[in-house]
Amino acid sequence: MPLVSMRQLLDEAAKKNYGVGAFNVNDMEQIQAIMEAASETKSPVIIQASRGARAYSQDKYLYHLMLAANELYPEIPLVMHLDHGNSVETCKSAIELGFTSVMMDGSLMADGKTPSSFDYNVQVTREVVEMAHAKGVTVEGEIGVLGGIEDGHGAGGTGLEHVTDPDQAVEFVAKTGVDALALAIGTSHGAYKFSKKPDGSVLKMERLIEIHRRLPGVHLVMHGSSSVPKSLQDVINKYGGKLKETWGVPVEEIQLGIRNGVRKINVDTDNRLAMTGAIRKVFVETPEKFDPRDYLKPAREAMKKVVAERMTQFGQAGHAGDYQPLSLDEMARCYAR
Ligand code: G3H
Ligand code: 13P
Ligand code: ZN
Repeated sequence: MPLVSMRQLLDEAAKKNYGVGAFNVNDMEQIQAIMEAASETKSPVIIQASRGARAYSQDKYLYHLMLAANELYPEIPLVMHLDHGNSVETCKSAIELGFTSVMMDGSLMADGKTPSSFDYNVQVTREVVEMAHAKGVTVEGEIGVLGGIEDGHGAGGTGLEHVTDPDQAVEFVAKTGVDALALAIGTSHGAYKFSKKPDGSVLKMERLIEIHRRLPGVHLVMHGSSSVPKSLQDVINKYGGKLKETWGVPVEEIQLGIRNGVRKINVDTDNRLAMTGAIRKVFVETPEKFDPRDYLKPAREAMKKVVAERMTQFGQAGHAGDYQPLSLDEMARCYAR
């Protein structure tokens, strides 16, 4: 089975009302962790790479690792997605490399920091949709702006400054033809999302529910959806880390989202925390060790555990074999129709 279209994965998820985690990667161990978790839980998979990940890995390395994953696990439908593409050119180069899905994040200007105008967002997203659909590639757009800046992508702030406006969401989908729509509902990238367990004053699930009511056929995407569990924070701090107390998005809120049209859930930070905790533990407990495998193996195992848990919580577990993936050519013909 080749790398597959995200649109088909999300359509299938919508039919059976489950969500699909989209996990960020930069290296081989992270891809291995996700594929092992997917194989164990029999889950369809979205693996995504940011611009930073593409630069870090010289994206050709990453692409060939994805092909290896695909070859090793032919029974797992596997999507390679560009996370937060900042321009039409970035999306184009990803498609040329072999990504089967791209995010055109036109909610920000190409600098990845400055909130853009609605018209700019429509224009660049529409352009990417035309280019991508001709090749059967899926497009995710974003309307509203996420908070946080520590990951190098985001407008800063608390995440409440640019919560998605439902009227704009409806107009944006009609004007762009995106396959999936990322919303801003108060979440932000990174570990420091909320200063206490979030309630409706900071995490706007009712806004998401309203948008789903207005756009029942559109696949919604939740970014900044790491749960930042205390157990993972504790391991890091126990072994010399200095994380301040913080809260992420509770899994039950994500599950509420899944019952209301959320099909793709972006998770990066939880995996970063899990890997870092495992590595710190090895460094502190066995300071005489210096073979990278001695700490990368437990790091990979820790990430696999988090990913498998999320796959089960999001409901994608058990669905890998439900359908026959379509080729990108077949998808292109569907879009043309
Ligand atoms: O969009 C945020 C993801 O966590 C990726 O982060 O840009 O540091 O690779 P990154
Ligand atoms: P987290 O930082 O919450 O893991 O979010 C990741 C994300 O949204 C990537 O696009
Ligand atoms: Zn994001």
